[in-house]
Amino acid sequence: MMCPAQLKAMAIGIACILAAICVCEGSSLASPVSAPTTPPRCEYKELMTNLHDRVGILATLDEDQRHRLEVIDKKLDQLVDSNAARMESLKAQQLNFQQRLDSFEHIQRLSRSTLDELKGETDLTLGPRRVRELKQKLSNRRKMKDISRSVRSAPQQYAPLPNSSAGNIDISLTDRLDALATLLTSTALSVRTVQEDVFKLTQAINRQRRLSHRRVPPNLIGQPGAAAFPAYPRASPATSCLQYYLSVQGILKLQLTPESESFYVACDGDWTVILNRSSDEINFERGWLDYKDGFGNLAGDFFIGLNKLHALTSAAIHELRIVFEDFDGHVAYAGYSTFAIGSERELYPLSLLGRFQSELSPSAGDSLSYHAGAKFSTIDSDNDNCLDCSCAQRYKGAGWFNNCGTSNIMGQYHQQNYAKAGESGIFWDTFQGKDYSLRRVRMMIRPIGEEEARR
Ligand SMILES: *[C@@H]1O[C@H](CO)[C@@H](O)[C@H](O)[C@H]1NC(C)=O
Ligand SMILES: *[C@@H]1O[C@H](CO)[C@@H](O)[C@H](O)[C@H]1NC(C)=O
Repeated sequence: MMCPAQLKAMAIGIACILAAICVCEGSSLASPVSAPTTPPRCEYKELMTNLHDRVGILATLDEDQRHRLEVIDKKLDQLVDSNAARMESLKAQQLNFQQRLDSFEHIQRLSRSTLDELKGETDLTLGPRRVRELKQKLSNRRKMKDISRSVRSAPQQYAPLPNSSAGNIDISLTDRLDALATLLTSTALSVRTVQEDVFKLTQAINRQRRLSHRRVPPNLIGQPGAAAFPAYPRASPATSCLQYYLSVQGILKLQLTPESESFYVACDGDWTVILNRSSDEINFERGWLDYKDGFGNLAGDFFIGLNKLHALTSAAIHELRIVFEDFDGHVAYAGYSTFAIGSERELYPLSLLGRFQSELSPSAGDSLSYHAGAKFSTIDSDNDNCLDCSCAQRYKGAGWFNNCGTSNIMGQYHQQNYAKAGESGIFWDTFQGKDYSLRRVRMMIRPIGEEEARR
């Protein structure tokens, strides 16, 4: 290839020769008479012109070539630059990963300390049962720690940027980050569950506190405006299991009025248990005084006593529920919308027995309505409607006997031969018949609103 300077020099040289020729031609034109034919010199001129043009073209071409080379050079430079930039951004990405890992670690540490705090609080407020549950939840934390440790070791393998194939993002690292994120989510869920539990307990405690400061007198329960009634005897004991669902092991101290004596009752949730039978430990074939005051063990088998039953059911309208269980484990219910007992002067009659709640399921059927209105009878106090007998003696127990009865809840407990115990056993005619002595009976009452009572 000819160098551009040479080409230019050549072009200039040719131009000079052309100029010389032009001068010679001009003189010949000045004397048109001299020679009409074209002088041979002018053929050279033509050749030279031609040559000049070609050299000019060559020079232009060369210029183009040079230009193109420059462009290619520039592009190469740009390419190198952009490659460098790409490398930079890849490095930045790597750094970013590192930071994300660090922040994950940080979050993990935070949630761990939150869990520890919560555990501490829970240990204070709750017993070991909750703590055990918490420990299960905390095992997630340990798993998370393991994963995080392996993630931590991973970046060192990849720390020096692998060659330039860096677009190839480490997949296993991403997987581990995903796993870590999943674990964090599940831990967050566990924490929320624990928080909800703590919240519920706090609510229960607050409710309890409020109730003990602003109790509604039992005879006003369900009446309009009762809730707004001002607090009376501050910090006095409860009047019903319904208000004190957080009783201590099911036993609660009640005081119905400020003047009356307080007494203990057994609670089953909202219900006040008035009779519990599940063994032959306590004999129910007893006299009037025992039935008046009550007997047995509140934590086992017992009868609450007619005095208390009268006090309770005359202080507030109650509903009655009886739960039966036979020796095959079948459970059945009998419920009555209202229930009340008269005073001793009246011989503690079953003075109020409301609608039988047939909707309770499984239903034991109605074997008490026959007794409604009957006075109470014991083996030493015959107040029944049997003209020539003492139902209490015949049935070996006590109760609101009519012309005897369709049930005998306070009858004899039969551990053996319960299926053929006869009328002296604990029977409920519509459940297993008059001959079958049941394994368990529990009588319970619960205050209701007046609107419910009217139904
Ligand atoms: C770069 O990649 C090549 C092949 O992909 C590999 O043999 C080499 O060890 C790598 N270098 C570094 C520093 O990772
Ligand atoms: C009834 O007696 C059984 C057996 O003694 C006892 O386990 C249960 O707690 C008692 N129930 C109530 C409500 O007192």
